[in-house]
Amino acid sequence: MKLLVVTTSVREGRSGKKVSDWFVGEVEKDGRFEVDNVDLKELNLSYELPEKLAGSVQNSEYDNEEDVKWAKHVNKTDAVVFVMPEYNHGYPASIKNAVDHLYHEWNGKPVSFVGYGSAGAPYAIGSFADVAYWTKMDIVNAHVGISEIWAAFDEDGKLRHQDYHAYEAKTMLDSLTHKVEAKKN
Ligand SMILES: Cc1cc2nc3c(=O)[nH]c(=O)nc-3n(C[C@H](O)[C@H](O)[C@H](O)COP(=O)(O)O)c2cc1C
Repeated sequence: MKLLVVTTSVREGRSGKKVSDWFVGEVEKDGRFEVDNVDLKELNLSYELPEKLAGSVQNSEYDNEEDVKWAKHVNKTDAVVFVMPEYNHGYPASIKNAVDHLYHEWNGKPVSFVGYGSAGAPYAIGSFADVAYWTKMDIVNAHVGISEIWAAFDEDGKLRHQDYHAYEAKTMLDSLTHKVEAKKN
């Protein structure tokens, strides 16, 4: 199975990369999924959407290369995990922009989150659920929530509550596996 891990923070000095690297390590240790990690800072999608609505584009036949490239990552994966901070009790603009560039590619895709912030991004995940519903993503509620992100990693870069978050990651991967296998049968 394939898992797309999306690093969503594009902020200067972000913690998001460290969180993504940790999660990718957990998925690799788990061994059930082959990981494709897309960093929205590197993908650098335009904030000006094309005139043609993504919802009217069939078979990912976009007129522009950036959307074709982004769609390929989503099309080839079995499931998606967004590594997502909470900003002002919501999700960051970067994730909404990345979602809005596509449409049909999200339909039926199993999705979960590694949320982080002061708490584990509960408002960000909760409010993103509306977007997920209308793009027909298939959310699993098992997710990772890392609180006090500024103190979550020690001076050696190790996650302080490793056992607990590794358990959360495994539980989430169990749920995603279940969804992916159910769709294949
Ligand atoms: C604009 C902004 C708003 C924030 N609002 C919240 C918030 O509502 N809830 C929360 O838990 N953390 C909040 N934080 C703290 C972030 O979750 C924390 O800084 C985190 O490291 C941000 O992720 P990043 O470093 O990968 O960008 C906010 C941070 C920023 C920059």
